Amino acid sequence: MAAVLLETKKLTFVYPGQPESSRPALKEIDLEVCAGEYIALMGANGSGKSTLLKQFNALLRPTGGAVFVDGLSTADDHCIPQIRSLCGMIFQNPDNQIVGTTVEEDVAFGLENRAVPPPEIRRRVAAALELLGIAHRAGFPPHQLSGGEKQRVALAGLLALRPRCLLLDEPTAMLDPAGQAVLLEAVQRLNREQGITVIQATHYPEEAALAGRVLLLENGLLLKEGPPNDILSDLPLLRSLGLGSTAAGELAYLLRRDGMPLPGGILHNRELAVQLCLYAQKN
Ligand SMILES: Nc1ncnc2c1ncn2[C@@H]1O[C@H](COP(=O)(O)OP(=O)(O)OP(=O)(O)O)[C@@H](O)[C@H]1O
Ligand SMILES: [Mg+2]
Repeated sequence: MAAVLLETKKLTFVYPGQPESSRPALKEIDLEVCAGEYIALMGANGSGKSTLLKQFNALLRPTGGAVFVDGLSTADDHCIPQIRSLCGMIFQNPDNQIVGTTVEEDVAFGLENRAVPPPEIRRRVAAALELLGIAHRAGFPPHQLSGGEKQRVALAGLLALRPRCLLLDEPTAMLDPAGQAVLLEAVQRLNREQGITVIQATHYPEEAALAGRVLLLENGLLLKEGPPNDILSDLPLLRSLGLGSTAAGELAYLLRRDGMPLPGGILHNRELAVQLCLYAQKN
């Protein structure tokens, strides 16, 4: 059993300046994330996904309850630098996180701040740019890149720092299908091969289906959690939240509802195709 890396205990959060009577952005969330897990965070707009991610690198801190990263409380000022080096985040809007005058400089920025020796910086920057398929943009001014390219630069900068946990806030929202595939493959590989923990907010069921566990948020509450084939096959629940399943999950649900004896939990095209072939052979 892997060690717990992230933990929330009755985590409640009200944004500063909000009246005490207002609905908290997060309400009494109890959660444990083990090292090496890949978690998808789903929920409608305003359900609290970004607010929860920001708690894990102490950008926001609980107004009630507690958050621990590798046993360190985010309420403890002394622990903040260590927490931030353990958990790196990329934000929904890539414009907020670009600082360098070239892509290369931008990706090197965090390493320079940590006084990493220059040859090591060059190695790590080149590897991160290569991994995300943007090495050809190394000398470019970041403000001349597209939104999707900027998002990949931001992730490269984060990866170069080698955090143990990646907090990814809708990282593929601005990417084209090829860019989405590059980014998701890179993240999956880091998770699988290096055991890096991933928490990824997403509106795409196809992405959530790749995770080991899906958390569903509603109005700041952790409504339900479980493996993707449990959560993403509960179509009535997903629809009540304004969400949906993968294309194969939606179709399998409709076919089952109409009486076709398909197994539950189908989420991927290939699984559905196999089951439909088996059904056709039997009938
Ligand atoms: N800076 C802020 N000040 C006050 N309230 C905020 C602030 N940021 C977010 N909120 C509120 O907190 C709640 C959760 O917002 P959050 O951004 O975490 O949702 P989200 O699930 O990430 O939504 P989206 O899918 O749109 O990204 C919302 O009700 C939102 O209005
Ligand atoms: Mg958000």
